[in-house]
Amino acid sequence: MRTLAVIGLGTMGLGIAQTYAAAGFDVLATDAVPAARDSAQARLRDGLRPRVQAGKLTEGAMEALLGRITVVPDPEAMGTASLAIEAIVEKIGVKRGLFAALETVMAPDAVLATNTSSLSVAAMAQGLARPERLLGLHFFNPAPVMKLVELVAHPGTAADALSRARQVTEAAGKTVIACPDRPGFIVNRCARPFYGEALALLEEGRSPAEIDAAMQAAGYRLGPFALIDLVGADINLAATESLATAMDGHPRYHVFDVLRRQVASGDLGRKTGKGFVHPQASAAPPQD
Ligand code: NAI
Repeated sequence: MRTLAVIGLGTMGLGIAQTYAAAGFDVLATDAVPAARDSAQARLRDGLRPRVQAGKLTEGAMEALLGRITVVPDPEAMGTASLAIEAIVEKIGVKRGLFAALETVMAPDAVLATNTSSLSVAAMAQGLARPERLLGLHFFNPAPVMKLVELVAHPGTAADALSRARQVTEAAGKTVIACPDRPGFIVNRCARPFYGEALALLEEGRSPAEIDAAMQAAGYRLGPFALIDLVGADINLAATESLATAMDGHPRYHVFDVLRRQVASGDLGRKTGKGFVHPQASAAPPQD
């Protein structure tokens, strides 16, 4: 596998493209929104610049990395890729539509992967001509920094597709852990009560800043609200709602009104410049 494809150039897709390009893979990248395609190279450069300034990456290495990412107008131009990873909107119907389109342009043995946080990979495979090549490759935010990638098989995923996806992702320096195709996989499922108790405390009158300060002083790298700001309150809400539905409304996955109101206000965190806590508190950990 030399050429990979990434669809969706938001928070995650951009980071996933960077991750594989940094490991020497050629990446074809696209997004449905023209502005996201047009700004992709500049956003990548802005993200890498501090590493150049800190002496952790040479200017030449940065340019070489950026040169390995080619932004293309649509998935039709991704036929040469051996693995396509989608990081588009967290809606099963839209993701299914994308995979159906990718099936028509990609080689029969190409692997298709979803970066979904909370949707069922098995449900996403329904209706595909070759469901055995679909799997989950769940990166964490920020993708170039976070080591973990959850590898998710649905009952029909072929062993060969899993081993090829694992191989390229380990070659990109990641720790790949096989996870069940259960809502939230491992990390997002364990994280729900972490966010939930923080939101309950907020509804009881504590402030995001004091809750985060306590959790950080207790040893967590980021407090729950800084983490929601980093992930995006909309993504966090979508993941919680998805788990709540999949777990038949079990109280562990309660969807708090305060989170719904935050999303309705449009203050989604880093990506909108305002969230639960001061933007500086939700800055990504340093890339090193
Ligand atoms: P985002 O909102 O930052 O970016 C999504 C991008 O996909 C946007 O640029 C949008 O224009 C594009 N897009 C939407 N529909 C499209 C389509 N049909 N075709 C092509 N492009 C399309 O979202 P983000 O946060 O990057 O999340 C993407 C996926 O990754 C979601 O499935 C999410 O659950 C998952 N995820 C998110 C994490 C996070 O921390 N934000 C962590 C791990 C997974």
